[in-house]
Amino acid sequence: MTANGEAVAKAAAILRAGGLVAMPTETVYGLAGDATCARAVAAIYAAKGRPAFNPLIAHVLDSEAATREAVFDANARALAQAFWPGPLTLVAPIARQGRISELARAGLDSVALRAPAHPVARALIEAAGVPLVAPSANRSGRVSPTSAAHVLADLDGRIDLILDAGPARLGVESTIIACLDGGPLLLRHGAIPKEAIETVLGLAIDAHDAAARGAPLAPGLLGSHYAPRAALRLESRDAASFEAALDFGGALRASGAGARLDLSPSSDLAEAAANLFAYLRALDRTGLRVIAVAPIPTTGLGAAINDRLRRAAAPRDVESAVISD
Ligand code: TXA
Ligand code: MG
Repeated sequence: MTANGEAVAKAAAILRAGGLVAMPTETVYGLAGDATCARAVAAIYAAKGRPAFNPLIAHVLDSEAATREAVFDANARALAQAFWPGPLTLVAPIARQGRISELARAGLDSVALRAPAHPVARALIEAAGVPLVAPSANRSGRVSPTSAAHVLADLDGRIDLILDAGPARLGVESTIIACLDGGPLLLRHGAIPKEAIETVLGLAIDAHDAAARGAPLAPGLLGSHYAPRAALRLESRDAASFEAALDFGGALRASGAGARLDLSPSSDLAEAAANLFAYLRALDRTGLRVIAVAPIPTTGLGAAINDRLRRAAAPRDVESAVISD
C-alpha cells in the first residue's frame, strides 16, 4: 500500500507482532522484521528461502542506536559520521548489551548495522521502536527489488504488507565495511564508492578477498547472486538477434539485439545503478536466453555495478546457490 502515515503505523504494528513488511530504502526494497525477535528473523529466512548462515543487516536510526548494538572503533565512528543516514553498512563487534538476535547474526560475534536515509524506512524504524533487520526483498539468489512491483513478483503471499514509495533512488545495495580487529575491510562494493570511503579514512582500504582467506567474511558474498533466468555475457561489444542487450552509453545501439535497454545513454553511472536491477528483470521477461552486457567503467559507482553483473553471470552451481541471498 502507498507509504503514508497510516500505512507506516499499520506496518509498525505488524512488525511489533513479529510479522514481515517490505519497506522502501534509498538503495533497494528491504524485507523488514524485528531484529530482536528470533521468530520474525526466522520468518524472513523462510520467506526469502535464504540459508540461515547468511547474516542480516540491522537498520537503526543513528549512531547512538548503533552503538547500543555494536562497539565502534575510530574508523567506524568516522564513517558513520560521514555517511549516515545513507547507503553504508558497518560490521562491528557486538556490544555486551546488544539486542540483535543471534539468528540475525547467523551466530557471529559481529553485527552489520545501517542507518538508512529513506524517510519511510526511518519513520518505520521509529514507529516500530526496535532495530529492523532487512535483507533485500527478493527470493534468495534473485535480482534485488527496486520497486514494490518487483517485491510483489517475488514474495506475494509470503509477507504481510508492502510499503510502496515508488522506485528506489540509488538502485544498488549499501557498501559494506567491516571494522573489526585490524584495518577496515571492504566486504561489498555498493552505493558509496570505495574512493569516497578512503577519502574519509585517509587510507587505502583492502577489499576482502574471500578466495585468499578461505572462508567468505560476508557469507552472502560469493558465487551466483542477483541472478536473472537468462545467461549473461559481459563486456559485449556486439549482440545477436537471439540476445537481449543491456546497453551503456549506446555502445550496442547498432547491434542486431532482439531487445535493448540502455542503462544510461549519457554514460552516467548513477543513472545506470538506479536502472540496473529493473532492466535485468525487464530483459529477463523478454524470454531471450542470453543478455549481452556492454562494457561499463569500473571507477566510482561502476565498481558496484560490475560486481553485481559478475555475480549475476556466475555459474549457478549448487554450492553458490546455497550461499547467495
Ligand atoms: O542496501 C542494503 O544494504 C539493502 C537494504 C535493504 O538495506 N540490504 C541488503 O541486505 O542488501 P542483504 O541481506 O541482501 O545483504 C547483507 C549482506 C550479506 O552479504 C551478508 O553476508 C552481510 O551483509 N553481512 C551481514 N552481517 C554480517 C556480519 N556480521 N559479518 C559479515 N557480513 C555480514
Ligand atoms: Mg540481497
